[in-house]
Amino acid sequence: MGAQLIDGKEVAKSIRKSLKPRIAALADKGVVPGLAAVLVGENPASVTYVNSKARACDKLGLYSEVIRKPETLPQTDLVEIVRSLNENPKIHGILVQSPLPEHLDELAVTLTIAPDKDVDGFHPYNVGMMFIGRPNLLPATPHGIIKLLEYYQIDPAGRQVVIVGRSNIVGKPLAALLMQKSKMANATVTVAHSRSRNLADITRRAEILVAAVGRPQTIDGDMVSEGVVIIDVGVNRVDDPDREKGYRLVGDVDFESCLEKASYITPVPGGVGPITIAMLLSNTVTAAELSAKRRT
Ligand code: GUN
Repeated sequence: MGAQLIDGKEVAKSIRKSLKPRIAALADKGVVPGLAAVLVGENPASVTYVNSKARACDKLGLYSEVIRKPETLPQTDLVEIVRSLNENPKIHGILVQSPLPEHLDELAVTLTIAPDKDVDGFHPYNVGMMFIGRPNLLPATPHGIIKLLEYYQIDPAGRQVVIVGRSNIVGKPLAALLMQKSKMANATVTVAHSRSRNLADITRRAEILVAAVGRPQTIDGDMVSEGVVIIDVGVNRVDDPDREKGYRLVGDVDFESCLEKASYITPVPGGVGPITIAMLLSNTVTAAELSAKRRT
């Protein structure tokens, strides 16, 4: 059997299409959804992500601002930037690109973001609401993975889902979403991580496997069962002198050895990545709707 490729670009396109009538309804009220991205320092991957996010806003007719600050930015200045964005009526969504330089306190910054402008869904208010099944703004990558599964009519209900990785951005929130008593959820979720013993025994039990460890090719074909659905969240740069940029992107999954065994698999790039950006746009529109509702 050969796996069917999950086309993240196609799903992202359908998500963007579904936003158009909502953007038009906001335009009727004189509202253009606006996103502010704060970038501290010049981490190359972060620069690329922030630029892609701003470009995606432009293409959909959303307003965007990128606030670029040097590596040495003091904590008090960053907090002040976020406070002023909280008050800015043109801005409905705020994201502070991570990782932040060592001297900055990421949690303190996240706590400063107004929860209804927290388009990353990282504020503990939004995390808590998600956990108790009363979602406000949901984190883009985990919510996007649910949208991918939905598009391909892969219902996780009752299935064994194994998530490898326990980050606050992907592993933990995805587990919380998939265990809910709700549509496109109701899964039996296992979260494995760097301290899990006998990882292959755990991953072989997966009917749906999500790899989000941030280490290239951690999961290979021997570690998965026939017919598994594989979602590869990894975006790892590995040196490749044959490429113009000097590197290529690989996932957390060894694509070649998993391709024959899986029923569906996401490629890297072109799988989860495009969805994450589409979901950020979706959250920006949702945040603008929340703000319009508050004003009426
Ligand atoms: N760095 C890596 N992923 C993300 C994300 O989803 N949001 C932000 N703000 N930073 C990130």
